[in-house]
Amino acid sequence: MSKSNVKPAQGKLGVMVVGLGAVSTTFMTGVLMTRKGLAKPVGSMTQYDKIRVSDGKETKYLKYDEIVPMAKLDDIVFASWDVYPANAYESAINAEVLKEKDINPVKEELEAIKPLKAAFDHNYAKRLDGDNIMVGKTRWEMVEQLREDIRNFKKEKGVDRIVVLWAASTEVYVPVDEKVHGSLAALEAAMKADDKEHVAPSMCYAYAALTEGAPFIMGAPNTTVDIPAMWELSEKTGMPIAGKDFKTGQTLVKSGFAPIIGTRCLGLSGWFSTNILGNRDGLVLDEPANFRTKEVSKLSTLESILVPEEQPDLYTNYFHKVRINYYPPRNDNKEGWDNIDIFGWMGYPMQIKINFLCRDSILAAPLCLDLVLLSDLAARAGRHGIQRFLSFFLKSPMHDYTKGEVPVNHLFQQYVMLKNAIREMGGYEADEKID
Ligand SMILES: NC(=O)c1ccc[n+]([C@@H]2O[C@H](COP(=O)([O-])OP(=O)(O)OC[C@H]3O[C@@H](n4cnc5c(N)ncnc54)[C@H](O)[C@@H]3O)[C@@H](O)[C@H]2O)c1
Repeated sequence: MSKSNVKPAQGKLGVMVVGLGAVSTTFMTGVLMTRKGLAKPVGSMTQYDKIRVSDGKETKYLKYDEIVPMAKLDDIVFASWDVYPANAYESAINAEVLKEKDINPVKEELEAIKPLKAAFDHNYAKRLDGDNIMVGKTRWEMVEQLREDIRNFKKEKGVDRIVVLWAASTEVYVPVDEKVHGSLAALEAAMKADDKEHVAPSMCYAYAALTEGAPFIMGAPNTTVDIPAMWELSEKTGMPIAGKDFKTGQTLVKSGFAPIIGTRCLGLSGWFSTNILGNRDGLVLDEPANFRTKEVSKLSTLESILVPEEQPDLYTNYFHKVRINYYPPRNDNKEGWDNIDIFGWMGYPMQIKINFLCRDSILAAPLCLDLVLLSDLAARAGRHGIQRFLSFFLKSPMHDYTKGEVPVNHLFQQYVMLKNAIREMGGYEADEKID
């Protein structure tokens, strides 16, 4: 630890989660249960992964908190906003992800997490009709209210630092519009003019978080912080931003599997991915405009791993299709099918089928924890703007497209970026050795 010059993780860490649905309550319950020694945070890199530091005789494999000062699970204090008034206990029960026996031991703590009124616009998620929302507020007034919420939470709970995580529903697709999203001044003007078309409610949360000195993480595929105006704000306030879309099931498999095809120089003629799921997320994504946001995010993964321009014989014109179907009987237990049409020597076709029976929120919860803890770390390390080292956790990693940057989607390259950032923040040399 002595080598790191990151500020220590002193005091409490406030984790304010936008959305108190399946993912957030599974995340919160898991953290609280782990704290009591009643569960294990399986799948969390910050709790389990070991990184090699130094070389030769000095070689050591250390956990993240042995390299850099990390906040502890005991330091976390939760708060949330949601469109529905159910507290975290009721919402965890309704979500039916976890069994009651895995929720009840922390019932009191969960009941105390009562959602603040959401900055919400029905046009951004038509399938939701809750009434725990701010009424009659312009976009700018929403920002002001959210800022006040953050300040109040900090004061009331004696919290030292805050991270804001979006784990709320996917909003309708907001295409980037240079005139509104291209600069901070333009975005602020649009908020003040209550431009509901170009300013999504999620942008109000991000703006409020960054302005109050809190990192912001976008866990849904919303384009919220994927715009130059937010990059400018994060530079101005010195805060990290990360996004977008938790890389949990199918896309995790895709970003780990596509490199097999690419590395062996096999050809690809098509990749068809379909899913059935029946939770509220599935319900929202059943709406075409909301699905569009997800589709853009999910489609982007392959293009930067199997690049047509680099290998025209192998990857030109492959057909990539992603579908999500709302199917209530499955609830959170999603099933994903991938059919991959590849070709080999002399163009002979072959097929690969992957059938992943996963649990969406069980896969997303450890990502919430890691993204929160690592964003807090990044803030203390003085890193601001887009945090590319967090691409490992995200389906559609942020990158500055105005500078021609390309996203890194290859899972193992993302892992190298993650390890090197931790090494550097810990005062060790970055390296690319395989281990
Ligand atoms: N579980 C996964 O594997 C996974 C992977 C990638 C992304 N995601 C994304 O994570 C998000 C959460 O997923 P989930 O399964 O928990 O969904 P969910 O529907 O159970 O929970 C989302 C909650 O957000 C609330 N909400 C919507 N708009 C809001 C707003 N403006 N302010 C405050 N609250 C708002 C809803 O009322 C709902 O309770 C979704 O956007 C989903 O696409 C999930």
